[in-house]
Amino acid sequence: MRRIAVLTSGGDAPGMNAAIRATVRYAISQAMEVYGVERGYEGLIRGTLKKMDSRSVSDTIHRGGTILKTARCPEFNTKEGREKAYEVLRAYGIEGLIVIGGDGSYRGIKDFYDDFKFPCVGIPGTIDNDLAYTEYTLGFDTAVNNVLDAINKIRDTMSSHDRACIIEVMGRHCGDIALYSGIAGGAEAMLVPEIPFDIDVLCNNMKRNIIKGKVSDIILLAEGVCDAAELKEQIEQKVPVSIRTVKLGYIQRGGTPTMADRLLAARCAVKAVDLFKKDNGARVVGIQDNKIIDMDVAEALSMERVFDKELYRIATLLAQ
Ligand code: ADP
Ligand code: F6P
Repeated sequence: MRRIAVLTSGGDAPGMNAAIRATVRYAISQAMEVYGVERGYEGLIRGTLKKMDSRSVSDTIHRGGTILKTARCPEFNTKEGREKAYEVLRAYGIEGLIVIGGDGSYRGIKDFYDDFKFPCVGIPGTIDNDLAYTEYTLGFDTAVNNVLDAINKIRDTMSSHDRACIIEVMGRHCGDIALYSGIAGGAEAMLVPEIPFDIDVLCNNMKRNIIKGKVSDIILLAEGVCDAAELKEQIEQKVPVSIRTVKLGYIQRGGTPTMADRLLAARCAVKAVDLFKKDNGARVVGIQDNKIIDMDVAEALSMERVFDKELYRIATLLAQ
């Protein structure tokens, strides 16, 4: 294959730039040409592509966000939209497409391949870590480290005032950001969508902590589990403690990517480019047991995500 394109789609994630950079530089080293598509599938439909060279990805490895910009593009969910995108790729003589994004972007790959048999490879880019076939996605490690930084700061002020704090974190339907940052940040409770929580158990644990002299509990609340303000009210009715709530929001998604995300980006990008050396259909790359793997996109999307209950059990024990 001589000419490929790369785009980022869905929510941005730290490490996307490192993946774009590695795609461009590795593909050029393999005698391929690379086009960058601006604003995800929207740019593919509108034809906003630019040829990239090694210099166009200079000074980007350490930057969060995505230099190619990203978008959510409902038009790509339609056959007509995908047809326009296909025509653009043909007009540029592009033979393969790399999509860096999450499960929605992967559904786009699947539909696009089903329609036109156009070779595509997906690189997992989302802070949510919600793709079943890969142990980690680009941006997750950085997001967790951003949450850890916030926990440390929030703990300073909460413990000075003997307050507890509910910290709401992102993750869409996945509790991994709450779970991993909860363990690493020593949170007293982690409320995740995968495990139903019992308000009485939570309050009893907090009361027990107070008796032990531990007042400033940190409760990590994954988005979508419940309303933080309502939870605060319910707890304050049962536990003699003053509570503050903090929604971390987009702070989690920005900032310089960690070593783990940059390394994963480089390894996934190299694998993705190599897949174009054979006609592999529509594939996605990821990591399992520290090995970079690839899989058919339909198979990857059909896998059910397994929440790490053992990690959750450990988290609960260590929080006591
Ligand atoms: P993420 O990739 O981070 O999960 P989204 O769910 O917003 O983000 O999906 C990104 C884009 O992927 C959507 O805006 C749309 O263009 C495309 N997409 C999502 N689902 C489909 C689908 N079923 N068919 C075609 N394209 C889709
Ligand atoms: O998928 C990444 C994510 O940051 C989720 O954690 C969150 O629910 C969502 O995107 C927020 O999306 P938006 O950028 O549209 O506000």
